Amino acid sequence: MKKFKEYIDKNKDRFISELFELLRIPSISANPKYDSDVRNTAIFLKKQLSNLGLDNCEICETKGHPIVYAEKIINSHLPTILIYGHYDVQPVDPIELWEKDPFQPYIKKTKIHKEGAIFARGACDDKGQMFMHLKALESIKENYDLPCNVKFMIEGEEEVGSENLELFVKNNKEKLKNDIVLVSDTGMINKTTPSITTGLRGLSYMELEVTGPNRDLHSGHYGGTVANPINILSKMIASLHDSNNKITIPHFYDAVKIITDSERKEAKKIPFEIDEFKKSIGINLEHGESGFSTIERQSIRPALDVNGIWGGYTDEGAKTVLPSKAFAKISMRLVPNQNWKKISSLFTEHIKNIAPDCVNVKVTEHHGGAPYVAPTDTIGFKAASKAYEEVFNKKPIATRDGGSIPIIALFEKELNSKTILMGFGLDSDAIHSPNEHYGVSNFLMGIETISKFYFYFTDLFKSKSN
Ligand code: BES
Ligand code: MN
Ligand code: MN
Repeated sequence: MKKFKEYIDKNKDRFISELFELLRIPSISANPKYDSDVRNTAIFLKKQLSNLGLDNCEICETKGHPIVYAEKIINSHLPTILIYGHYDVQPVDPIELWEKDPFQPYIKKTKIHKEGAIFARGACDDKGQMFMHLKALESIKENYDLPCNVKFMIEGEEEVGSENLELFVKNNKEKLKNDIVLVSDTGMINKTTPSITTGLRGLSYMELEVTGPNRDLHSGHYGGTVANPINILSKMIASLHDSNNKITIPHFYDAVKIITDSERKEAKKIPFEIDEFKKSIGINLEHGESGFSTIERQSIRPALDVNGIWGGYTDEGAKTVLPSKAFAKISMRLVPNQNWKKISSLFTEHIKNIAPDCVNVKVTEHHGGAPYVAPTDTIGFKAASKAYEEVFNKKPIATRDGGSIPIIALFEKELNSKTILMGFGLDSDAIHSPNEHYGVSNFLMGIETISKFYFYFTDLFKSKSN
């Protein structure tokens, strides 16, 4: 399969300029202002998929943003790979911290990406990674015969919880039937060490609204006599962790699967330098649950974090005010076998219990999703391993990641499908952050690795069924 490298190398400038086109459309799913851009991104992808010669290319309407679907079924006896990815992106704020317009992609060298990286919102998460799959299919079709069946399902609501995709999957089980789901929406250990993500954390996302007096008050005239909702909210939030940084919500850990010694040993094999970790994000000291290493805290242990907190006066200068309301958005990252709906209700119940009488507290449950852990003794894992090893000259390491892709657990539940998470992003790529980028060589090597996966997976599938 030498032709892949050659073909990709010859066509890389075009691949990148096509990706640029995709990156120029601001498909921010969270903000209705961008609804037509989100739709235009789906239209763009449908056209690309149909140019690749795929059949039944459609834009599937949902209650929210559309799903793009396409397939090539060449022989029902051959295995079917279902490619999943998302074309929606995170909002860009704080916009002032971007070096350039987040939707005017450009290439710049970085310390880590010496050959250059593509800078734009979505460059890595997930337009750049998802687009590798289109270019992998092109590389296969231009050089060989497609070895198996393939289906593409690309959604526009991953960054807002994939609720409509959930319904789509439940209603289209036959259409989406597959032998493996393949996803590139995670990361690798570092530029030269590939990894296959074998675990994702689940998520429960909550919002709190604390109300004190019925209007903002003068903080001198009233200060000291009335509960300040921001003071109260801060105190409640602070009480959600104890002195060992354990989460204090009753029964929160009840279902958490305790890791075995062998899992612990596995996690220790992952190359990780705490000093580098600290340096890379500019902190003096790591922080987390007592009794667990940083890698463990990030992958196999749950976490609770405030994602945003606001209220009162936050503009220039000083205004004396005792605010009427305070708000916070809180996420909980979950591990097997925590159930996100159960955790959301435990949270709600606990907040109601600790809320003092001097304020009113409203708790809203946003989206959530189940954690996922994949086995490594599957033909999918073996095929991915072989493809990585050839392209990177190094065996990939199995890692469990702290992020969430809620739909992956649903593929298992509804379609009985295992997922292979072949991610090529790096921690330093700044996903969800200003100046998000994606290494040009990660993009190109990803295309090559994915192309090879098709062949190794089909081979192993055939030898298994013989
Ligand atoms: N691609 C990420 C998930 C991810 C990032 C997994 C890095 C592993 C490593 C995905 O787009 C994402 O951001 N997911 C959200 C969840 C969603 C429900 C908003 C997340 O993890 O916050
Ligand atoms: Mn993503
Ligand atoms: Mn994301």
